[in-house]
Amino acid sequence: MSKYTQDKNYIYYENTNIPINKFNIRDQKILEEEERKLLLKSYEYFHNNLSEKTIFDEIYLKELHKKTFNKLYEFAGKYRTVNISKGYTTFCQVRFLEQTSKEIFKKLSSDNYLKNYSTKSKEEFAQKLTYYMCELIALHPFFEFNGRITRLFFDMIVTFNGYEYINYQDALEIEDGDNKYIKASIDCMIGQDNKMFKIILNGLIKSE
Ligand SMILES: Nc1ncnc2c1ncn2[C@@H]1O[C@H](COP(=O)(O)OP(=O)(O)O)[C@@H](O)[C@H]1O
Ligand SMILES: [Mg+2]
Repeated sequence: MSKYTQDKNYIYYENTNIPINKFNIRDQKILEEEERKLLLKSYEYFHNNLSEKTIFDEIYLKELHKKTFNKLYEFAGKYRTVNISKGYTTFCQVRFLEQTSKEIFKKLSSDNYLKNYSTKSKEEFAQKLTYYMCELIALHPFFEFNGRITRLFFDMIVTFNGYEYINYQDALEIEDGDNKYIKASIDCMIGQDNKMFKIILNGLIKSE
């Protein structure tokens, strides 16, 4: 047996990108379909539960991850315990993860969790969203689903402020390889957030 499969930090089946799951599904397509359904249900659940009392803090972020993926994955709702890189990017080192997360959410709290942007300009809102989106992208707190949960998180914030879910259609178009969202994420890592800003501004539309 490989040493990796015994490592509690190793979340994939040996020699695959398939996360170890509670149903032991090994077929990527079937698993993706399950994830898609769970995410959809989660959007509905969290949308319906938005209220003045909702606080978009770290607990909420973890809750989004947990509620969405708990049915499938043991690691749902838990921050990662291993360092992760994608392409040339290395995300926040595990040893700084808790502290960096606390700092991001402390700052977000000083911005009242972006709860008072319904009457401000769209540009101003998009700028704030971009800033925090980039911070969470660099944090990359979970083993998996950082992209989807980060977008869900900000979709709930924009909904709270009277906007539709951010439309990423164009940015997420290419499924394999680097789509515009990934390119924008790469730029976020070096403090260049104009690509992400464009994506968000472009996808941000007031509800009727
Ligand atoms: N090379 C990269 N540099 C910076 N960020 C990246 C890179 N590749 C992917 N990302 C970020 O990581 C996210 C994907 O993380 P992942 O945990 O796999 O989430 P998901 O499974 O929901 O796509 C992307 O949406 C993007 O924001
Ligand atoms: Mg992924």
